[in-house]
This record gives sequence, C-alpha cells and structure tokens, in this order.
Amino acid sequence: CGIVAYVGHREACPIIIKGLKRLEYRGYDSAGIALLNGNLNVYKKKGKVSELESYISDKDTHSHIGMGHTRWATHGEPNDVNAHPHYSSSKKIAIIHNGIIENYSSLKQHLKNKGYEFHSDTDSEVFINLIEDIRENNNISLAEAVRLALHEVVGAYAIVVISHDSPNQLIAARKGSPLVIGVGKDEFFLASDATPIIEYTNEVVYLNDYELAVIRDGKLEIRTREDVAQTPYIQKLELELESIEKGGYPHFMLKEIFEQPRSILDSMRGRLVAETSHLVMASVIEFENKFKNADRIIIVACGTSWHAGLVAEYLIEEFARVPVEVEYASEFRYRNPIIKEGDIVIAISQSGETADTLAAIELAKSKGAMIFGVCNVVGSSIARATDAGAYTHAGPEIGVASTKAFTAQVTVLTLLSMMIAEKRGTVETSMLRQLMMEMEQIPAKVERALQLDTEIKVISEIFKDAANFLYLGRGFNFPVALEGALKLKEISYIHAEGYPAAEMKHGPIALIDANMPVVVIATKDSSYEKIVSNIQEVKARKGRIIAIVTEGDTVIPEMAEFVIEVPDTHEALTPLLSVIPLQLLSYHIAVMRGCNVDQPRNLAKSVTVE
Ligand code: G6P
Repeated sequence: CGIVAYVGHREACPIIIKGLKRLEYRGYDSAGIALLNGNLNVYKKKGKVSELESYISDKDTHSHIGMGHTRWATHGEPNDVNAHPHYSSSKKIAIIHNGIIENYSSLKQHLKNKGYEFHSDTDSEVFINLIEDIRENNNISLAEAVRLALHEVVGAYAIVVISHDSPNQLIAARKGSPLVIGVGKDEFFLASDATPIIEYTNEVVYLNDYELAVIRDGKLEIRTREDVAQTPYIQKLELELESIEKGGYPHFMLKEIFEQPRSILDSMRGRLVAETSHLVMASVIEFENKFKNADRIIIVACGTSWHAGLVAEYLIEEFARVPVEVEYASEFRYRNPIIKEGDIVIAISQSGETADTLAAIELAKSKGAMIFGVCNVVGSSIARATDAGAYTHAGPEIGVASTKAFTAQVTVLTLLSMMIAEKRGTVETSMLRQLMMEMEQIPAKVERALQLDTEIKVISEIFKDAANFLYLGRGFNFPVALEGALKLKEISYIHAEGYPAAEMKHGPIALIDANMPVVVIATKDSSYEKIVSNIQEVKARKGRIIAIVTEGDTVIPEMAEFVIEVPDTHEALTPLLSVIPLQLLSYHIAVMRGCNVDQPRNLAKSVTVE
C-alpha cells in the first residue's frame, strides 16, 4: 500500500492525490483521503486513485493538512468501506495504515466488549479504535496514546494519524513498513517512499522501526516507542523528478525496458574498467576475508529477484567455486534453516522493503551470518538492515513487472561473482579479463537486442490469444525461462510455465500440442546441442516454437517457426541479452490484450506484508 500525508502552507489535496498516483504501483484496489478543515472529512473509493479524484471533484477539499492511502488488500475485500483512511468510533481521529496487525482479532473482541463498533473488516480500524480507547481511558495526548498503542499491537505497520482537535498535527509511526518524512520550508511530507516528495524537497528523514514522528506546529519530533527523544537525521535525496515520469513512453514498463542499456551501465559504473583490470566493489573489499573464506553462500529473495538469485547461483559456483543455495525468503524464514557463522547470506530486493526478505535477513543475522544486500532503492529497509551491499543503481522502477531492476541485479551479481573469484583465485587472470571485456560490451548489445522490438510485435500479434505458454532454457538461461514465464503471466494473465528444457519430458511435454507456443532460449553455449534435441522433442509433438538464438545461427531456423536473434556474448552473460526479447514479448502481448501493464490486477510492486 502507499501512504502520503502533508501539512504546511499549500493546499494539501492536490499534493496528496498526485503523491498517491506516484505510489499507485504499491497497490491500487482502492484509495482514500482525509482532510482537516474545521471538520475531519474522509473520502474513499474502490478502484484507482483517478476514481477517488473524480469522486472528490465536487467536494470541498480546501485544507492545509491531510493524508491519503492507496491500498493493496490484506484484510477484507477491496471496497469503499475497507478503503483507508479509517475513522475511530467517535470520528474524531483517523488512520492510514500499511502492514498487518496480527493480533487484531483479540484486540477487536476486547474493544467490542467495551462497546466499540466496527464498520470495516480491516485490522486498521481496530488500530485506530485502540488508540482512541487508550486516549480516553488515560486522558493523555494523542501522540502519547499512539505511542502506548504501539506496545499493544503485534505485526507490521506504517501509520499516520490525524485528529479533528489538532489542526496542525500529523503523527506517524513505523515498524517493518517504510516511511519517509520530507522536510520542506515550513511544511512536511510523509510517504511510503520518496517519489511523492522529490518535487517539493530533497531533504528527507527515514523513520526507523519502533519510532514515532510527531509533526506539530511546524516542528518535527522523533521519539522511540520507549519515549526516548531522537535527533532527526536529515539526508539529501539524489532522485530526479524525470526518472519517475514516463518521458513520452506509453507505459513505464516500456520506458524501463528501453532504459536497460543505460541502467546496466549505471550498475557497472565505477566498478568495472576492463582496460586496467579494475574490478571493485567497496563492500566486497571491506569484507574480503569473509568472501575469501566463506563456506557457503545462501541467497534469499522473492519474485523476479529470486530469479536473479538463480542466475547468481550459476555464476558464483562457476567462477568462485563456493556452494550456493537459493531460497524463497518466505520459505527460508519459517523452516529452521541451518546457518553457520562462516556463511554469507545475499539478500536481493529491488524495493528493499519486501517483508519476507527482511525477515529472512533478521533470522540469518541472529544466527551469525554476514548479510550482503543487493538493493535498488537507496536507503531502503533491507539496505539498512544488511552488513554490506551493493546498490544496483537502476533508478526508480515504477512498472509493477520488474525489468531493468532484474538486469541490474544480474549485472551486480555477475561483478560480485567475478570479484569473489578473483579474491579466491578460482579463475585465471586472462579469463577474468576476457569476462570484464565482454561485460563492458553488454550495454551496447542490449541496445541491439532492443531493436528486435518490431519483430517481436509481429510475433506477439500471432500469439496474443494463446491460453498457455511454455518457456524452456538450460544452464544460465534456465532462470531466464522462469523470468520470461513470470513476466507473461504477471501482465497478460496468460498461464505460463518456465522449465529446465530437459526436465520438460517429465511433465510439461504432456501439454504440448499444435496450439502450444513454446519459447526456447537456445543461444550458443555449452548446452546448445542438448537444447537442439529438446527443440526436436517439442517439434515432434507439433508445438509452436519461438526460439531465442545467437545471431548467425543456421541450425535452429530450420526447426523453429519463429527465430529471434540476440548478439553473441560469453555464455555466463547471456541472461542479460536473452531476457530482453522475453520482456518485450510479454509487454506487447499484454498491451494487445488490453491489459494494464503497469498495474496488473492483484499485484503490487512492493510487498511489505508477509
Ligand atoms: C513483488 C513484485 C515483483 C518483485 C517481488 C520482489 O511481487 O511484483 O516484481 O520481484 O515483489 O520484490 P523486491 O522488491 O524484493 O525485489
């Protein structure tokens, strides 16, 4: 979900609505706004922020303080009632909340016994009534009541509370769900991430877990849940406004796909110069001994980041010869994993906020592992929770389906695997040098792969009505098959499966008939001959083959119905090229099917609940 709040000299409503639109990628099944102007008015609507916007267009929204929310439903279906903000029973205070209150049911029962009435199915309405109850019983300030309430709730939250009685006050708190405070001149902004703030100020304070922010009469105070005053640490943001706007593209996803030559270059910047054999990642040098002596590397991530983790497994084992395991963060955190002190845990996350990944990190930390983060969002919770790390520097990714963040992750992980190999002496210098040179050429080769766009559009038109898709790959391209299938199902709602090409004969082959499109990633690498045989197996069952091959391949065009050529590179680097046509294929099919590619149904970009 996304949170925005404002207090200051400007009109609050337009700032909040614009901010919610910028945050819509975090959830968009309903939206709402609370504005204070003599009365505490709450307006909310099922659907997109634009629906809320038209709903309030004839209302009096004049106000200098308010808060808004765009929701990704956890408790209760998406409808007007369950949308945020939520009033307390007295309607004197209201809350917006991200996260989940796990003990909401016992708290709700307790409050019901005391006569509180509930209108929604949400845990957030329980939260605000709990605050109200504490305030009434103890006759204390609202900020104090919020602080005490934080001791009662179990779970994750980022909240903002405003009160009818305090026209110049915003109260916010966080645990496990991000919250940034923008500090302007006589004005303050609160948001789930910095994107709604950057056009007004570049000075921000990141709230930490168990902290409470009280903005009152133009001043910001931060206290811990234990009531210890903290000095706000103001940081300068380096985000540019144009990086979060569409810049002439019809969708963010397409813009982000086409940004990849640049974003890959940005993730290598300062880290790699082949000519002088310069390969540097500051945090790897800082923890050089750990990397040299690591017994094992465990990678934790979710979604597309997990796919980048799988590519890294192949890379690190190939070059650095350290055993690697790749785990879904959500499984890892609950299955009593074996972690020892000599282990390194690499956490990969675009947003740096995924709740399961964060929890996996905390668990691994408690068992003594060194944690290395690969995050895109600077200053995010995961970036701050890790011992060391490398930012991917891909710039803000707004489209829900991850594209440039994936290639940036793979880039950073490739450099990381090369560095660990160098430290451990597991690859020859000449080989390392060659890899570095190949790596430097990747942005230009991605640029060439993007020229396939028109060709891919034609193929998309032919297959846009398919009910199923199968994606096959081997070796370094197996994770790319998974990623290609994920991209397609996420945004076009076509059922798609990714499989290791040889494993196909143990199941998915049963699905193949003359209607089944099969995307095979068959670039020239060490398993080329094998995958050619797999293509034959598909062809024998009349499957419709779309093959991603290396430029100049003369064998596969004889067998496949469609062939898409990507530039040649070292086989370990092919994922960075072979994924490009798959991103474009899913994009065009989704557009042709009339789907909302930037905001696919039911999904959210940043999943801050488990
Ligand atoms: C969500 C997004 C995916 C993303 C995954 C992990 O499901 O829709 O695109 O891969 O979360 O997110 P992270 O920010 O941790 O990489």
